[in-house]
Amino acid sequence: MEISSIHKALFLLQILLSSLLVSSRLKTLKESSDTSLPSNFLFGTASSSYQFEGAFTSDGKGLNNWDVFTHKPGSIIDGSNGDIAIDHYHRYPEDIDLMDSLGVNGYRFSISWARILPKGRFGDVNSAGIKYYNKLIDTLLLEGIQPFVTLTHFDIPQELEDRYGGWLSSQSQEDFGYFADMCFKSFGDRVKYWVTFNEPNMLVIGSYRTGKYPPSRCSGSFGNCTSGDSEKEPFVAAHNIILSHAAAVDIYRTKYQKEQGGSIGIVVQAVWFEPTSNSTADFLAAERAQSFFMNWFLDPIIFGDYPVEMKKILGPTLPEFSSTDLKKLKNGLDFIGINHYTSFYIKDCVFSVCEPGPGVTMTEGFTLRTPQKDGVPIGESTVMDWIHVYPQGMEKMLTYLKERYNNIAMFITENGYGSENNPNSTIEEFLYDVKRVDYMAGYLDALSTAVRKGADVRGYFAWSLLDNFEWNFGYTIRFGLHHVDFGTMKRTPKLSATWYKQFIAKHKIVKSKMQESNEEHFQY
Ligand code: BGC
Repeated sequence: MEISSIHKALFLLQILLSSLLVSSRLKTLKESSDTSLPSNFLFGTASSSYQFEGAFTSDGKGLNNWDVFTHKPGSIIDGSNGDIAIDHYHRYPEDIDLMDSLGVNGYRFSISWARILPKGRFGDVNSAGIKYYNKLIDTLLLEGIQPFVTLTHFDIPQELEDRYGGWLSSQSQEDFGYFADMCFKSFGDRVKYWVTFNEPNMLVIGSYRTGKYPPSRCSGSFGNCTSGDSEKEPFVAAHNIILSHAAAVDIYRTKYQKEQGGSIGIVVQAVWFEPTSNSTADFLAAERAQSFFMNWFLDPIIFGDYPVEMKKILGPTLPEFSSTDLKKLKNGLDFIGINHYTSFYIKDCVFSVCEPGPGVTMTEGFTLRTPQKDGVPIGESTVMDWIHVYPQGMEKMLTYLKERYNNIAMFITENGYGSENNPNSTIEEFLYDVKRVDYMAGYLDALSTAVRKGADVRGYFAWSLLDNFEWNFGYTIRFGLHHVDFGTMKRTPKLSATWYKQFIAKHKIVKSKMQESNEEHFQY
């Protein structure tokens, strides 16, 4: 036999073996999972403009903060950027076909602010950008897929950074309101789910405490930056973001919601914090950690003020809301979007002495965050050092939010598993993503338990539809249900896509298809 025939035979054998493994895996999972979610539940996949679209200067798009940041040497681990990303801008019809094949009824994506307002409110509207999102939205609706639209997922026009320092300036509130208004006016006749911000908690931590995200500001031992104030700026930026959210919601409520009939919320990164011991001090520390990480944003929006623990510890470092702010904040939100991936142990550092480590400073609330207790990890570790597989955390997180915020409607807006883009792996190894399947099965199981016990969760979006640009990690990590060959851009379903498809099929979800696209969209 010739060498090439041997190779061919081995390759076919490998495919045969992996497909046998795949079907046995699906069978066990099918038998073991006993989840049931309502038929009006939204099942979808999630994405974001910078991580997916590419086309970074096409058709009049302006530069945003990530375009500029990724082009600075040393910002991204593999020296890459999102200039092309996974070319979703050009390939969205093919990507919607993939969604259709999964059987989803929702797609979470974000709008590239600089694509529709290249210079924020200081320049013209880019009508090509508006046209792109109109086409994307219409194509989704023709397939019965609800657009779940985030206004900003970490990216802002660079113009706003250069003019007034982005989120550090209160001017950002006006710009965000202007942008939001433009989006409601242009797309709100068809978009029924709006998210103002993706993970403002991660945004301000990355941008102004550790300096790992643009505009790379930090101080002292928090990171390695040329300027910034890690102990102050995160709170200033957060305040402007909370008020920007309030401005957008105010505009939606007063000008659009009645007629358009949609709902509006915010998405936070929600990490479950488990007390390290059953001491009162550790229990209070876990509560405090939630306040300093997540309730920091949710409390002002839902209750009109920062969490008590933050006010007590931070004193005047925490900005105050004026009476006008409070009036705007009253509009709150219609739902909480939850990006939940992981859990940590929390140890108190007020009554006990802690070694330096994540969470221990005053600005983080004097708590030590660790992935293990007495040498035993909270869950299996992953290639992402912050993700530990702890499905119970999903139920605990949802129950916590249900109780704290009076069971307001919730969506899991992201949940997913990252694996290494090992250059030595074969395509079969990438496609046979058993760990991702196990992760999703476990977390969805915990989610449905929470729903059974009364949590008002209305949807789940897997992160992500496709492998994509993973921020500081570039293309070294793969989060997709579909493999993307970053050279050819070829998309191939992984085992997790097949599994998710079967999982969704079991739920017989409602899909209503728009009959035809109305070409007469709002004109500029
Ligand atoms: C972000 C995504 C990111 C994902 C995985 C989330 O915090 O919203 O943009 O890709 O985590 O790291």
